[in-house]
Formats: sequence, structure tokens, C-alpha cells
Amino acid sequence: MSENAKIILDGETHEFPIVVGTENEKAIDISKLRGATGYITLDYGFKNTGSTSSAITFLDGEKGILRYRGYPIEQLAEHAEFLEVAYLVIYGELPTKPQYEKFKTDIVRHTLVHEDMKHFLEAYPRGAHPMGIAASMVCSLSTFYPESQDTNREAEAVNLTIIRLLAKLPTIAAWSHKNSLRHPFVYPQNKYSYTENFMHMMFSMPTEESTPDPIVSKALNKLLILHADHEQNCSASTVRIVGSSHANLYASVAAGVTALWGPLHGGANQAVIEMLEAIKADGGDVDKWIDKAKDKDDTFRLMGFGHRVYKNFDPRATIIKKAADDVLDALGIDDPVLDIAKKLEKVALEDEYFVKRGLYPNVDFYSGIIYRAIGIPTEMFTVMFALGRLPGWIGQWKEMRENNEPIGRPRQVYTGSNKRDYVSIEKR
Ligand code: ACO
Repeated sequence: MSENAKIILDGETHEFPIVVGTENEKAIDISKLRGATGYITLDYGFKNTGSTSSAITFLDGEKGILRYRGYPIEQLAEHAEFLEVAYLVIYGELPTKPQYEKFKTDIVRHTLVHEDMKHFLEAYPRGAHPMGIAASMVCSLSTFYPESQDTNREAEAVNLTIIRLLAKLPTIAAWSHKNSLRHPFVYPQNKYSYTENFMHMMFSMPTEESTPDPIVSKALNKLLILHADHEQNCSASTVRIVGSSHANLYASVAAGVTALWGPLHGGANQAVIEMLEAIKADGGDVDKWIDKAKDKDDTFRLMGFGHRVYKNFDPRATIIKKAADDVLDALGIDDPVLDIAKKLEKVALEDEYFVKRGLYPNVDFYSGIIYRAIGIPTEMFTVMFALGRLPGWIGQWKEMRENNEPIGRPRQVYTGSNKRDYVSIEKR
């Protein structure tokens, strides 16, 4: 294969280097295109554009492969703990036993959020969406730790910000839920694991401690691992681009939280359950809703279906579907919404519209069913996704800064008016 790609523009041939990744992914490096030719590339939604090279996550959408730092998602979801995976994603290797013990101890030491931050929480209206709260609270952490604004500090100082974020997000998330109920906050306890602590802060009351259920904790561990990173998706790209201006990690991650919120991204898990409930309330006629999704005059889309990258299957959805069955069985829950989900999946998978477009259930199609089963309210689903995705955002930000990447600043093709002269308001 030629080492360069040739582009012919205005009769002149220009050569651009071809970059090949470790899994044989190929790219044309056009970073000198504009200087050499005056042209830019145009790619709405970055469907064909690599914004960076990264050593964190490999995914092959055609083959349904997902690996963090080379480890298959199936193995990690089956055997690892979430914090082990977080360490892997952020620092590049699975931790040794002493490294892991230190990492967990460091996190446990930082789970409290500053008491003054409780005042912010209390000021939100009842029913405030927890994603809005999570984003603002994460950003507010930067004001409590102003030294984080200097992102050129030595690695140890940056590491403390990483630990604080990992430690405090579950507390912020659980407290945003408590606050929406106007219930008292429950403080973290060092005796619990990461997932147990979160469940404790979500469901205990100061008057009664609810002991975390091991089935629930295991399911949550798996869900968080499945969400830990997904290369250059909408929220990770947001975190990288915000961080590329040398904004601090808290601010960059807060931007990631807001990017995740939308129903085309992480907000899909909430939208799936709302859709399944609407279908149930409407009498459970799955075909009618499939027709709505296919109708180009109707804005309705089958939530939890389709993916920018996976066009055959989402490997996370395969793991989650089984986990949903296991959790519901283990907890003895019979959820009619799960039956509708299965029916919908079956009909869609056999329907030419979905098959032709490569539309398959994504990770969010079944995650909401597990969250429901373990007692997480629907509005918190996307916050759960954020908890899982946090190591990915941190890892992407860290990699981008360590590689000294330039500020993210796309170009555009201008389509507005040509030059015209100002006309005073009386004459318009
Ligand atoms: N229901 C019905 N039709 C769909 C759906 C859907 N869920 N998804 C895509 N299509 C159709 C589009 O209308 C389009 O049809 P056309 O070719 O006739 O115009 C075609 O499939 C391609 O769709 P695009 O929107 O161009 O695909 P894109 O890669 O831009 O979008 C996305 C991917 C946003 C995930 C889309 O499939 C979608 O909106 N899905 C529903 C929301 C969802 O589940 N999001 C979660 C994504 S996973 C995650 O973030 C964890």
C-alpha cells in the first residue's frame, strides 16, 4: 500500500501521509491540507473525522468489538471491579494489588463534599433534573479547589483532582436525588465499596441504614464498567475540546456531563424507559410504535436503537441484556416493561427499515430496566451513566494534556451574506 494519499485539486496532486493504528485502522493525515491547498474538509457530525489518536479504547463497530487498553469488555465486565477498570482507563495498566489498595484508600478519603456545597443543593427547586445539578456541582468543585485551575501542575497535584472527582461524584449524585425528595443527606461510609457506598447514600436514611444488596452492587459494578469509556463520543470529545483550552478538569468534566445529558447520547436511557412506559400506557401495540419510528414525517425515533459506530451489534447491549434477565430473576421482579422491550427488539430486528440501516439495540436499551429493578428513579439514569463514564472523561482529558494537543478549533464553510453596508433603522 502507498504510504501517502493523493488528492488532486485544481489539477495539482498533493500527497498526505497515511497513519495506521495498532489495530490497522487507517487515516489520512490532512493537518497540512489547508496550508498546502487552501481547502478544508467538511464533515458534519465528524462522521469520518479523527480528532486525535488515542491509546485508551479500541472499538470496531462492524465486528462489535470493544476493548479498554486492549482488554475485551466481556472479560472486564465479568471479572473486574469498577475502580480497577477506572484505574486501567486512566493510568493505562491494570493496578497491582498495592497500587489498587492505595487507589481505593485515596478515593475513600475524599468522598465527602464540602459542607458549603450543601447550600447550593438546597437552593435547587424540588424536581430539578439531577443532570443539571451534577454538571453545576462538578464545575463548582473547581471553586473549592482553586489550585485545580493551574493545569500545568506536577502529576501528583493533577492526580489529586482526579481522585477528588472519582470520590465525590457518587456523593454529589446521591445527594442530588435526596435533595429532589427533600430528604436529609446521607454521608458516605468508609466501610463500603464504591458501588455499595453509592447505594447507601441513595437509599439509607439517617434514621435507618439500608444494607447494600450484593446482587444490586454486582449489577451496578457491571453497568459502570460497561460505560467506562467509548473513545471519541460526543461527551468525551466535549471534554477533550474544553480541556484543550487548558480549562481545569472539573470544568471539562462538567461540560462532558452536559453533553451526555441529551437524549441522542446518555439521555437515551431515560428516554427508553419513558418510551416503553408510553407504549405500555397506549395498550402495548408495538407495531404501531415501530411504524411511528419509520415514518419520516414523525419525529419519533426508537430510543435505545442505533449507534453512530456500531452497525451490527453493540457488545455492551449483549452483556446488559443478560444482566437484566439475571438481576430481575435474582430480585424476583416481573417487570412488564421488560416484556415490551423484548417484543420491540424482536420486531425491530426483523424489520427491513432497521436491518437496512444497521439499527440495533444499544447499551441504553436495557440499562434502564436494570436501574429500575435496583430502585434508581428514571431521572437519575443519565447520572448513572455519568458515574460510569467518569474514568473515560478523565482518561481522555489526561491523555490530551499529556500529549500536548493544540486547542480544538474546527473550521467552517461560510454560507452567510456577502459584504453589505449598514442601513440606519429608519431606512430599513
Ligand atoms: N429510530 C428510527 N430511525 C432511526 C433511528 C432510530 N432510533 N436511529 C437512526 N435512524 C435512521 C435515521 O432516520 C436515518 O434514516 P435515513 O437514512 O432514512 O435518513 C438513518 O437511520 C441513519 O441515522 P442517523 O441519524 O444519520 O445516524 P447517526 O449515526 O447520526 O445517529 C444515533 C446515531 C444518534 C444514536 C441515532 O441512531 C439515534 O438517534 N438513536 C436513538 C437515540 C439513542 O438511542 N441514543 C443513544 C446512543 S448510544 C449512547 O450514547 C450510549
